[in-house]
Amino acid sequence: MQQKRTAAKAGTARRGATTGNGTAANGRATKAAAKRAGRGKEPGLDLLAYRDEFPILQRKVYLNSCSLGPLSRRSMAAMDRFQELWNEHGAQAWYQLWMGEIASLRAKVARLIGASPHEIAIAPNVSAALSEIASGLDLGERNRVVLADMDFPTLAYQWLAKRRTGTEVVFVPSPDRVTLPAELFAAHVDERTGLVATSRVFFLSGYIQDVRRVAEIAHANGALLLVDDYQGTGQIPLDVKALDIDFLVTGTLKWLMGGPGLAFIYVREELIPRLRPTVTGWFGARDQFQFRTTEFEFKDDAARLEAGTPAVAPIFAANAALDIILEIGVERIRERSRYLADDVVRRALDRGWKVSSPLDGAERSSIVLRSSSPRWTTSWRRAADRASRH
Ligand SMILES: Cc1ncc(COP(=O)(O)O)c(C=O)c1O
Repeated sequence: MQQKRTAAKAGTARRGATTGNGTAANGRATKAAAKRAGRGKEPGLDLLAYRDEFPILQRKVYLNSCSLGPLSRRSMAAMDRFQELWNEHGAQAWYQLWMGEIASLRAKVARLIGASPHEIAIAPNVSAALSEIASGLDLGERNRVVLADMDFPTLAYQWLAKRRTGTEVVFVPSPDRVTLPAELFAAHVDERTGLVATSRVFFLSGYIQDVRRVAEIAHANGALLLVDDYQGTGQIPLDVKALDIDFLVTGTLKWLMGGPGLAFIYVREELIPRLRPTVTGWFGARDQFQFRTTEFEFKDDAARLEAGTPAVAPIFAANAALDIILEIGVERIRERSRYLADDVVRRALDRGWKVSSPLDGAERSSIVLRSSSPRWTTSWRRAADRASRH
């Protein structure tokens, strides 16, 4: 009963604070949740008030955050503001306002992942972010790169494309196409290995890798660790320092709900001087606004990995979306979405379906897969259907 009242009250408060657009659909959702709350089991019921932030949730049951996160009213308003500023100030908007928006985004991303703003670079997508690192990192004699065969293809392509210049690419095979115990990396990482590049959350199964252990294995062998965290950031709490990650790439399309056109690179502070990308441009130059055509020096911070003019509309959208994520906190998002994913798994098993994700909720993110059937077509991946509640 207490929980019921708290949920309803929080809902009213959030609506007042944000959009004032409460709807019948949300009323029903809150009522249903409150009923379930009567059973005293469901965490994060007050978060249901945030459903009002997302117009699509009034019409749809949204199960595809691992592909494209939903658009919030706050991001829509921020993109409107971007257009107004462009109209009002023209090119002056760059110096007076948009650069500030970029700095604010960099600071929020740093806060979200436990880094400092000078360790963050902005890129148009994760593939471009990976290309910056791949072109900037000289592995010298250690030309072996170790990945998991469950990683997203674009991560592997960076180094497969470099095979013609001597890079050796090794894949650690998953024993069951669902999990990958970190110890399996140990057999493949050795003194020839310059880099271990893998994901924290596998897009193919939702499995959460023990990245801390993978970092230990990489570092014990003198190799660096790059993490593709596109499927983790925003749904599973992240502290890049605690996990001892050297490079991390992530983006706004999925769990950060900022839409397409924006990705981020984290570079551990001590490694920044080592990165000298051949994919570059004036946004990576130390004296960017001196316009010296005949001389080039990299910026001192991670922004040396940036190349040209960023897309500003997505920066506005992402800034607003990150406010929502930071306001709630990823710990609470994880608590709630783990409950929802457990619920999906339980219902699937009750129906006798084969779940191709870890059954243990501690090892599984919000991504749940089952062997394919034409009736569940949220997002098809290698003979399995994928659902991701958030
Ligand atoms: C884990 C992971 N990495 C990378 C990507 C691709 O990123 P981008 O299109 O920004 O290059 C995806 C897209 O689904 C992904 O799931």
